[in-house]
Amino acid sequence: MKILVINGPNLNMLGIREPQIYGTQTYADLVAFIKQVGAELSLEAGCFQSNHEGAIVDAIQEARGVYDGIIINPAAYTHTSIAILDALKGAGVPAIEVHLSDPQTREEFRHISYAGMACFKTFAGLGFEGYALALRAFTEMQQLLKHT
Ligand code: DQA
Repeated sequence: MKILVINGPNLNMLGIREPQIYGTQTYADLVAFIKQVGAELSLEAGCFQSNHEGAIVDAIQEARGVYDGIIINPAAYTHTSIAILDALKGAGVPAIEVHLSDPQTREEFRHISYAGMACFKTFAGLGFEGYALALRAFTEMQQLLKHT
């Protein structure tokens, strides 16, 4: 199984940006963590990060027929981007939303998630662990589908 993990704007600054919210580990640490969990679950996890909305839309479109699932943390675009919502809806690839922090307990403008409307699950407020749970959810989904 192949999963594409997409991280949005400013997540390349992990470890530097607001460590009291996002922790002290870097984006490179996050990629290493995702690859390690992916290997443990015997799945291939591709990682993509961009600060640009259009590049994220392109990555979602290009996932069709290549990846079995998308894990996406659209970062600030979560709360603004109908383009990312539409791309996820049109991709034909199941998606899970992840946030390091829990936007629901933060400022009101973070309470709406457009991308989340096209995702079948959300893990928020669990730091890196949210990505591991999302990878595991895809493995469990595959097991369930095998038995139907
Ligand atoms: C975030 C939450 C967003 O509100 C914020 O804009 C981010 C990161 C998170 O992972 O907690 O950049 O998606």
